Amino acid sequence: MNTVSASASQNTVRPGQGRSLTEPWTLGPLTIPNRVVLAPLAGIGNWFVRLQARRHGAGLAVSEMVSSHAIYFGNDRTCTEMLRIHPDEHPVSVQLFGADPEIMAAAAERVATAGADLIDINMGCPVPKVCKTGAGAALLEDPDRAVAVARAAARGSGLPVTVKLRTGLRPGDGKGVAVARELAERGGVVGLSIHPRHASQRHAGKPDYALAAELVRELPVPVLLSGGLHTAERAREAFEQTGADAILLARGSLGNPWLFQQLVGLRDGDPTREEVVAEFNWVLDSAADHLGAERANRYLRKFYPWYIERLGGTRGQQAVLQAALQQTDTLEQARELFAAAGLGEGLATAA
Ligand SMILES: Cc1cc2nc3c(=O)[nH]c(=O)nc-3n(C[C@H](O)[C@H](O)[C@H](O)COP(=O)(O)O)c2cc1C
Repeated sequence: MNTVSASASQNTVRPGQGRSLTEPWTLGPLTIPNRVVLAPLAGIGNWFVRLQARRHGAGLAVSEMVSSHAIYFGNDRTCTEMLRIHPDEHPVSVQLFGADPEIMAAAAERVATAGADLIDINMGCPVPKVCKTGAGAALLEDPDRAVAVARAAARGSGLPVTVKLRTGLRPGDGKGVAVARELAERGGVVGLSIHPRHASQRHAGKPDYALAAELVRELPVPVLLSGGLHTAERAREAFEQTGADAILLARGSLGNPWLFQQLVGLRDGDPTREEVVAEFNWVLDSAADHLGAERANRYLRKFYPWYIERLGGTRGQQAVLQAALQQTDTLEQARELFAAAGLGEGLATAA
């Protein structure tokens, strides 16, 4: 499959050549309507978070990482909940992790059957539980295995494959850069997502955009940039500075799908409180659809702080609302508390 050179030839505009985030681009055979993408987020990027990103303008959304082993061994929750794809969220990429090519091929086939348009392989996760199995960032130590895993995913699924990786394991080791080159040359990948922090940094520290820019210039496949893109201004600057083909929004998009709108030119300002309340309710409804009301209320506890932040108010007011939401027994209680705060009552009288 010669998708590498085909896609590179259509994405060769580089830094300073005036590209816009709103322009379509290609990843192998897929045309992506704009260059703003939801990053993979473990425990978060399920179908409704991805659908939310798409509703607000993302050109593509990537799933939370899913274990190729869990799919291969038919784990029920993995195969039903984590591989659930909503009909309105296409194009969608499902991210897999694993280090065994045969298991990856079989899991990728299942992902294709579930309806994914694209597969992304995680080669950047620094979490010991993942790395000790040889997966995630551990694959940066073994370029041949990394290539075999990527090729197996393409073979098993028949889908285009991308890889998301770090620039190294430790400061200055360059291992991620070497693996990126191998994947582009021999791995058959149609694109690479570069998070230019080394794995030992986890998610802290300044991303090395200068290094990302070098990779963008050098690699023959489209590069998606990840890391530190928390506001529209920073995301636009990094897109310009690196010449990346697309940007991946991660923590900046949590509870803030309006960031997608801002970056694709659908709005300038922040959401009104009414919009935040309406979005919160949409999230509650979607989570109930996904998990049932009881599990949804527990699952959404990590989401609540993100939406509270969007309501404004003082830190004290936000803390009171946060404490109350964390103690709710039902989604309806959470809905009422948030709506009252959103209309000014909760935040005005709290603190
Ligand atoms: C809670 C959380 C979960 C993440 N899960 C994944 C994941 O499943 N797969 C992956 O490749 N990266 C994952 N990442 C990394 C992000 O996709 C992104 O590369 C990183 O957060 C840097 O971007 P940011 O600084 O804009 O947040 C995760 C990050 C966070 C904060």
